[in-house]
Amino acid sequence: MQNIIIIGATSAMAKEVAKLYAIEKANLYLIARDSSKLDTIKQDLTVRGANTVHTVQFDANQFDSHQVLIEEAFDALGRVDALLVAHGSLPNQELCQTDSMKVIEELNTNGVSVISLLTHAATKMEQQKSGNITVITSVAGDRGRQSNYVYGAAKGMVSTFLQGLAQKISKSGVHVLDIKPGFVDTPMTAEFDKGVLWVKPEKVAEIIKNRIEKRSSVSYAPGFWSLIMFVIKLIPKIVFNRIKL
Ligand SMILES: NC(=O)c1ccc[n+]([C@@H]2O[C@H](COP(=O)([O-])OP(=O)(O)OC[C@H]3O[C@@H](n4cnc5c(N)ncnc54)[C@H](OP(=O)(O)O)[C@@H]3O)[C@@H](O)[C@H]2O)c1
Repeated sequence: MQNIIIIGATSAMAKEVAKLYAIEKANLYLIARDSSKLDTIKQDLTVRGANTVHTVQFDANQFDSHQVLIEEAFDALGRVDALLVAHGSLPNQELCQTDSMKVIEELNTNGVSVISLLTHAATKMEQQKSGNITVITSVAGDRGRQSNYVYGAAKGMVSTFLQGLAQKISKSGVHVLDIKPGFVDTPMTAEFDKGVLWVKPEKVAEIIKNRIEKRSSVSYAPGFWSLIMFVIKLIPKIVFNRIKL
């Protein structure tokens, strides 16, 4: 029976991941901002077969709560097989261009808070000498683009952190996985017109669970985004700076 912590558990992608583990009768420890949403999710996961579902309310930007939050989660579960970090927000890029406080808030939500939580989680995982740490970042972190470079900067920061963490912590038997989704149809992207590149959160959840089991280190979700980002990264700067992307 697996013991799983999910931070940002009310996210559409995280909810689908939790359902996959509930079917396998996992013990789920869910951490998220909205306690009424958490109550609903808990009921659903219990019906789906979860062995236990524990819920905790938090705000990602209350950094001084992070250590206790993580320690209590590990203490409650005893051994943690996997920890998923899923919370995030999609900034208004135009607003960020003139409001530095908004930039800081978005970098905190999407970058600094994730790194803070991972710092505490990595210590606990290292002590137990096993487990998996998975974070949902984004293809946006691969190359800064005018349409979303504040969000991209935060996600890129986390991806770089994960590379270094993986190198350090893999020696203790802990695996680190960076999930980079492309366009996913969730509340975060409700306002966007959807096209052929879009997928449902269920699809990304399947990829996440599969890659955790395969002990992958980085996974684009779906995989075709690795090709798209490969091409985008190859565009010479002189061309890149003249196009809208
Ligand atoms: N959707 C996409 O196309 C896409 C693409 C690439 C990467 N991603 C990333 O995938 C992850 C999951 O997003 P999603 O698409 O599933 O969107 P979502 O359903 O809107 O989920 C976003 C989650 O972040 C939580 N959150 C936001 N600010 C928070 C804060 N200050 N403290 C605590 N929780 C906070 C939200 O909590 P509430 O429920 O309380 O609002 C919600 O659970 C995010 O990291 C996102 O950046 C999404």
